[in-house]
Amino acid sequence: MKRFIDLASRSLLTSLDPERAHALSIAALKTGVPLSCPPPASQRLSRTLAGLHFPNPLGMAAGFDKNAEVPDALLRLGFGFAECGTVTPRPQEGNPRPRVFRLIEERAVINRLGFNNEGHQSAYSRLLARAPHGGIVGVNIGANRDSADRIADYEEGVRVFSTVASYLAVNISSPNTAGLRALQERQALGELLSRVMAARDRQNRGLGAPTPVFLKIAPDLSEAALADIAAEVLDKRVDGLIVSNTTLSRRGVRDPAGGEPGGLSGAPLFARSTRVLARMRRLIGPWLPIIGVGGVDSAETALEKIRAGADLVQLYTGMIYEGPGLAARILREMDAYLESRGVTSIAEIRDSRVEAWAAQPLD
Ligand SMILES: Cc1cc2nc3c(=O)[nH]c(=O)nc-3n(C[C@H](O)[C@H](O)[C@H](O)COP(=O)(O)O)c2cc1C
Repeated sequence: MKRFIDLASRSLLTSLDPERAHALSIAALKTGVPLSCPPPASQRLSRTLAGLHFPNPLGMAAGFDKNAEVPDALLRLGFGFAECGTVTPRPQEGNPRPRVFRLIEERAVINRLGFNNEGHQSAYSRLLARAPHGGIVGVNIGANRDSADRIADYEEGVRVFSTVASYLAVNISSPNTAGLRALQERQALGELLSRVMAARDRQNRGLGAPTPVFLKIAPDLSEAALADIAAEVLDKRVDGLIVSNTTLSRRGVRDPAGGEPGGLSGAPLFARSTRVLARMRRLIGPWLPIIGVGGVDSAETALEKIRAGADLVQLYTGMIYEGPGLAARILREMDAYLESRGVTSIAEIRDSRVEAWAAQPLD
């Protein structure tokens, strides 16, 4: 039955305009009707990282639930955590439509949404209302397109969401806000991280454990840029990394929609984002948590991210093609894989293929 829901929703949703299909998915999740049947919790899959207990390592990536409308419904699909956002201080429309394109044969998407969202206050109110439900819900923060001081927008995000977010993700890697990725350059990044971490520490003074801050980076970075980022992340004591956002590269893409400007996600991003992930694991050492994102659409791809150095994994585009039961399927298969090999914790397989992935050229 659940497989039927997946097949039916997939064919319905892929025949609609991508943004209408997405609005329908959010509406369906809001009804509370169970759309999948997640496996029972498994000790083998759980991890404690940055002071947070993740029941399993698979999360929903940012961009699906931009306005924090359905984090609990995502957790009920089986996801071990859900990341809302990107949210900006003021609401903004984003770029003109059409701005999301499916590359069906390639199981990919190109988007140039440009941080369309309802702004901090509406996401904050929803997160405050659902806070008693618990579960790990992160908030991905960004800057308004026309902001005079973009770093101040991130500080504001920290101030607003520290008490309702399990963690904060600082997103400086969207390709759809002009100039945003320049914040990844060393000097700008140093200033951004100093101010963000100071805002985080101010916010949490006296309130117990500080809210962990993760930095989300692009997959389109040189070796030197990755080394700079790793150095700043360690220097400013950022709590973790999310690798990666969408890519500007169209390498290997044949679909004519590949000519659309924007960020590419899904299967063609898998190798590129995994190579960057493995390099980052080598650069920052074994202790800092990394969330691996990009092209995960099966238990095998999720496991491979972990072998390449990820502690946790997120997906988005895979669910567009596989339907709402994907998280449950991946978790069931990951758990069966570990059990069949006598592995008692998913952490044990981390890094087993870091060197192999890091040795592959970036381009
Ligand atoms: C339609 C769409 C919207 C997205 N919006 C955001 C966003 O607002 N903030 C963000 O950090 N990432 C955003 N992403 C990027 C995803 O979080 C993820 O990093 C990327 O898609 C790679 O994962 P995937 O291949 O599993 O989709 C978006 C992706 C898609 C497809």
